[in-house]
Amino acid sequence: MTYHSIAIDGPAGAGKSTVAKQLAKKLNYTYIDTGAMYRATTYKALSLGIDIANPYAFDFLDTTEFVFKNGELFMDNVNMTILNRLKEVADNVSLVASHIPVRNKLVQLQQLIAENNNIVMDGRDIGTVVLKNADLKIFMVASVEVRAKRRYEELQKIGSKQTLQELIEDIQRRDDFDSSRDYNPLKQAEDAEMIDTSDISIDEVTDLLYEKFIVKLKGEI
Ligand code: DC
Repeated sequence: MTYHSIAIDGPAGAGKSTVAKQLAKKLNYTYIDTGAMYRATTYKALSLGIDIANPYAFDFLDTTEFVFKNGELFMDNVNMTILNRLKEVADNVSLVASHIPVRNKLVQLQQLIAENNNIVMDGRDIGTVVLKNADLKIFMVASVEVRAKRRYEELQKIGSKQTLQELIEDIQRRDDFDSSRDYNPLKQAEDAEMIDTSDISIDEVTDLLYEKFIVKLKGEI
C-alpha cells in the first residue's frame, strides 16, 4: 500500500497547524505536528534537569514514546497539548531543536510514522528533510504582526497571560534562530509552493490546499 503525504513548512504562527489539522480532517489523514515533538522534548529535558545546551544530553529520547491521537501529541502517555504551551518551553525550544542528535532522532520517528500512514505533517524541515518525496509541499508565510496576533488569540483561549508585544518579540527571536541554525534550518524546499496567509482566512487556505492536493493526486493516478 502506498501512503500519501502533504508537507507544510513555514515560520511560527503562519497558520500551518490550523490548516494542517483542517486538511487532515477533510482528507481523513493523520495530522502530525512536529513542533509539538520538539516542544515535548524540551519539556522533558527541563523536567529532568539536564543541561539543555549539551546536544549529547538527550539520550532519554531513545526511551521516550511519542504517539499522536486525533492530532494531539501524547509523550509517555501524557497529553502534551497544554504543557507544550508553557513559556519555559517556548523560551528554550529553539535551542533544543538546533541540536543535531535531537533532530536526527525526531526526524527518524517522523519518517517512520509517514511510512505507515497517510499524513499531513507540519514543521520547518518537512519538505526539505523529513518528507523529500511528499505529494504536495507548501511553504506558508505571513507578516510578523499577523502571526503574533494569531498566536495571541490561540493562547488567550487556554488562559495564557503573554502580551501581544511579548509574542511579537518571541516570534522574531525564534524566526531568526530557526532560519540561521546550521543544521536543517527553516527554508523553502525548491519544489514547495509559497502561500502568504496574511490576507486570506485560514479556512480559505485549507480549501485551496485541498483542491491543489486533489488535482495532484489525480495527475499521479
Ligand atoms: O511550530 P512550533 O512553534 O510548535 O515549533 C516549536 C519549535 O520547534 C520552533 O522554534 C522550531 C522548532 N521546529 C523545528 O526546528 N523543526 C520542526 N520540524 C518543527 C519545529
